[in-house]
Amino acid sequence: RMLDVARYAPTAGNSQGMYYIVIRDKEQIRAIADAVANWMEAEVAAGTENKRYFQVVLRAYRERGQDIIARNAPCLIFALARRLNITGVSNAEQSWAYAELFAPTIGLGTTIAGFIQSCGIAGYQPLLDLIAVPPKHKIVGTLMVGYPKYKYQRMPERQHLKVDFR
Ligand SMILES: Cc1cc2nc3c(=O)[nH]c(=O)nc-3n(C[C@H](O)[C@H](O)[C@H](O)COP(=O)(O)O)c2cc1C
Repeated sequence: RMLDVARYAPTAGNSQGMYYIVIRDKEQIRAIADAVANWMEAEVAAGTENKRYFQVVLRAYRERGQDIIARNAPCLIFALARRLNITGVSNAEQSWAYAELFAPTIGLGTTIAGFIQSCGIAGYQPLLDLIAVPPKHKIVGTLMVGYPKYKYQRMPERQHLKVDFR
């Protein structure tokens, strides 16, 4: 039901065509998180701009056993598109916004899986193999889905609105 709402999100040039793969197997989700940790290690070794951030994530994941990559989510959704230009990723973001707003109305909780989707967008082959991405398709987004543990009484505080009317 959530993805059925997500597909109504706007797409660039009415391109539509978002294709979702829903993974609910615990072992497979663990293997995906491990693959992403391996990718982060390669990024750290290559000295990319994310090096310091990834080092912090890896310490928590590898040394303290905290799953800050997949958050122990029981379900991961991958959004696939035929093109990985700015259009494909933007379409996925729009799609997640619709999904995330709808999710609580049916008792679900969601979070964008930033580390996993970055690994997918980077085209890390071991991750693509685990998900068996069909030919000509690219990963353009990843969403974690589960049942919320906490019920929030109010919105988290937001910074003040910053806007210039000219
Ligand atoms: C692009 C993007 C990537 C994100 N990646 C992650 C992630 O990898 N893991 C995670 O737990 N939360 C992730 N989040 C959720 C943010 O951490 C969350 O929105 C932030 O804590 C602020 O909370 P709020 O939006 O509920 O106020 C991501 C959010 C966005 C928009």
